[in-house]
Amino acid sequence: MCYARKKYACYVLSVICILMMTTVAHAVITGQCSNCHTMHNSQGGEKMTTFTDYRTISPSTAQPYLLRGTCLGCHAKGTPNRIETIGTTDVPQVLHNDPAGDLAGGNFIYQIGGGKGGAGSDKKGHNLMDFVDGNMDIPAQPPGRRHDITNINTLFTCAGSLGCHGIRGGQGRGLKSLKGAHHGNVDGQLSTALTVANSYRFLFSVIGLENTNTGASSKWQNVDATDHNEYYGANKPMDFDVTGCFTCHESVTMINRPSNKTMSGFCATCHGYFHIFDDDGGNEGVIINDRVPPYSPFKRHPTDVLLPGGGEYGAIPGYNVVTPVARTSPPALIGAGVSATDAVMCLSCHGAHATNFYKMLRWDIKGPLATAISGCGNCHTGKN
Ligand code: HEC
Ligand code: HEC
Ligand code: HEC
Ligand code: HEC
Ligand code: HEC
Ligand code: HEC
Repeated sequence: MCYARKKYACYVLSVICILMMTTVAHAVITGQCSNCHTMHNSQGGEKMTTFTDYRTISPSTAQPYLLRGTCLGCHAKGTPNRIETIGTTDVPQVLHNDPAGDLAGGNFIYQIGGGKGGAGSDKKGHNLMDFVDGNMDIPAQPPGRRHDITNINTLFTCAGSLGCHGIRGGQGRGLKSLKGAHHGNVDGQLSTALTVANSYRFLFSVIGLENTNTGASSKWQNVDATDHNEYYGANKPMDFDVTGCFTCHESVTMINRPSNKTMSGFCATCHGYFHIFDDDGGNEGVIINDRVPPYSPFKRHPTDVLLPGGGEYGAIPGYNVVTPVARTSPPALIGAGVSATDAVMCLSCHGAHATNFYKMLRWDIKGPLATAISGCGNCHTGKN
């Protein structure tokens, strides 16, 4: 009897172990430490920070964590490959000339121009100070912001304060804000987002599911209805009340993060007015999203609201990687369908880094009529 119970407990434990192994896949940085790190930035007197970016420029100074390059030296090499390798480790590229496609975040080449996608335009994406080319160095305050952000118009960057990845807001910039994330990177389902390493794509406090399909053309990519990342959404936007500094800031540290942990909430930390029901005309007053369904009519295109199951939304054929939807419970599996528990989000219409279209949209809204309305029609099927 006792023996049998032990056996049962053992079985339960091993099932739990197997489940943990299959859902929490860990860091995939492999190979020699010296592939990425240099002890003194000197070898025979020559400097070792030799990783070059798309301009074939390598940093002139030693880097944090003894690294051999900057973010751009590892992630923006400008080669014909959307995934590069350092030794045995794959490195996702955010600026490249791969004719076969882009990773899910988009491709900054469309903004700087001169490669894939033709002429660049600062209207095609986020303008970061890290890219010094003609079309990249015209940043501004974020449209729809709740308050001006000091210096973002000149110092908008990849990570940390005035950036998107890592710990944001007064906690250091660049690599400093990612400490431990690369070696601790958790893949697959990210349902708590309590650290940078276990947040979706190192976006602190964002839940999601990173594409779990194996194979060179799946990781970091949205390929088709059964092969894509999954995003997290909600059935109503975050509240922005006047004491709601803490909608975006952690109360003690002032660290910046979306309190509802959704992708749209993340965008809203900088573009707050595009994520509310009522528009108070631009003053910083109380905005509590306390309406009850049905929420329509809206004053700005909503995000983090459910797709009504019927009406003009009734004929959505399935998940479409051009206009992806967000799931309103932390996604555990890649879904090929769309249902009335799914929400529209910022990334239903926009890219994250840059796309080849006006205002970083996911389809050519300035193209011929059929193309221009195609994205809208993916959801508003009754109006297509
Ligand atoms: C493919 C590139 C790569 C390889 C190989 C690599 N690292 Fe790193 N390592 C990084 C990057 C990128 C960071 C900094 C960003 C971060 O912490 O997220 C880092 C940060 C670190 C840090 C400081 C942050 C932390 O995680 O505590 C230590 C220590 C470190 N690496 C040790 C090692 C050792 C030891 C090896 C070999 C066993 C190694 N690394 C191999 C890329 C690499
Ligand atoms: C750290 C603040 C910050 C976050 C977070 C942020 N943005 Fe922005 N965004 C900006 C700034 C600053 C600008 C204006 C300058 C520029 O175009 O780069 C901007 C501009 C834009 C534009 C207009 C681009 C153009 O060229 O006119 C779009 C669209 C946009 N953001 C969408 C998003 C989406 C979608 C997200 C979430 C995935 C997001 N933003 C997250 C700061 C941010
Ligand atoms: C919609 C989101 C949002 C809300 C609400 C918000 N902030 Fe911010 N705040 C930000 C962002 C984003 C930054 C830039 C953080 C960074 O990257 O360094 C910021 C930065 C700051 C800074 C640093 C200095 C500066 O100008 O950049 C202070 C101080 C600040 N906020 C105070 C407040 C206070 C006080 C409130 C409440 C009245 C508030 N914030 C509400 C998003 C928000
Ligand atoms: C020494 C090279 C190196 C540097 C420098 C580096 N990275 Fe990485 N990065 C990598 C590698 C390798 C991976 C793939 C890790 C993996 O597969 O787990 C990666 C993965 C990522 C990812 C994707 C994580 C995910 O969810 O799969 C993000 C986001 C990222 N890096 C951002 C940055 C930013 C921002 C910087 C600069 C502040 C930076 N990296 C600097 C090598 C580097
Ligand atoms: C239904 C599609 C759709 C959704 C969802 C959406 N946008 Fe947009 N967005 C657009 C279009 C289309 C434009 C182009 C200009 C316009 O029509 O306002 C635009 C323009 C913008 C701009 C540029 C505004 C300017 O002043 O030039 C920013 C910034 C932006 N969106 C951010 C966001 C953020 C952040 C979210 C989520 C909170 C979001 N958008 C959700 C379609 C969308
Ligand atoms: C991912 C799906 C999706 C996409 C793509 C999308 N929408 Fe929407 N749209 C919605 C949802 C969901 C609502 C809110 C429905 C509700 O609660 O009544 C909405 C609401 C609207 C409304 C407000 C209706 C009202 O009752 O106030 C308009 C107008 C609109 N969308 C136009 C557009 C246009 C134009 C585009 C393309 C630029 C677009 N949408 C793309 C899902 C989408």
